[in-house]
Amino acid sequence: MHLDNEKLSIVKASAPVLKEHSTAIGKRFYELLFTRVPELRNVFNQTNQERGLQQEALVYAVYAAGENIDRLENVEQLVERIAEKHVSLGIKPEQYPVVGEVLIQAVRDVLGSAATDDIIAAWQAAYDYIADLFIKLEQEKYQDTAGKTGGWHGFREFIVDEKIQETSDVVSFCLKPKDGAPIADYKAGQYVTLKADIANEPYTHMRQYSLSGPSGKDYYKIGVKREKVMNSIRMV
Ligand code: HEM
Repeated sequence: MHLDNEKLSIVKASAPVLKEHSTAIGKRFYELLFTRVPELRNVFNQTNQERGLQQEALVYAVYAAGENIDRLENVEQLVERIAEKHVSLGIKPEQYPVVGEVLIQAVRDVLGSAATDDIIAAWQAAYDYIADLFIKLEQEKYQDTAGKTGGWHGFREFIVDEKIQETSDVVSFCLKPKDGAPIADYKAGQYVTLKADIANEPYTHMRQYSLSGPSGKDYYKIGVKREKVMNSIRMV
């Protein structure tokens, strides 16, 4: 669907209203998404879902992009951060359409008759436009990462080479690739996603950890902090 001037004006004019309802739309979005594609529970952070955290982040970003749709350079940093996150999780182009359909349905469900056909059609076109942008950016990032010396595509198996008890609740892990091949260098602030199947947990868990320690070694080092109250781990 094409994003013409009329749709563009509708999107810009209705973005604040949709943004105002982003918490309710976000909640409905995840209900619908996990009913429609249950296996996505392996990809989204279920601990955040259970705690009702971050439920509006995705929806809010779509509206922020919609509001700035004719000057997306205003939200470049947001777009860049989201694309990095998606790439770290292995999000694929073919996952965008279902997310878009569910998002539009959530808007309909929450706004009811206020979501006129014109508004829905305009947001559908805006979603497709934004999704295309993310897909292109993410494909570039996948290619860059895979093309680097020691880089790879998708998930790669690592083994724990060393475990260092830094403090009573922080442990560092040095991780070496199982295949013994080189690993890519990284810049300060870069992170990795760890994917773990945990006994008695129904879903796979994916978490991001900042890389610490010097780059250019044959291992990656991450610090993991135990959260006593919640009995889970978080990034340090
Ligand atoms: C235009 C469409 C999309 C937008 C605007 C969007 C936006 C966002 C935002 C704002 C975040 C949070 C980033 C952060 O924590 O820094 C996020 C995270 C995430 N997105 Fe997207 N997203 C889109 C499409 C998708 C699609 C198609 C998938 C595939 C299933 C997806 C899966 C995820 C996952 C798994 C996370 C991590 C959050 C969690 O674990 O709960 N997103 N996205």
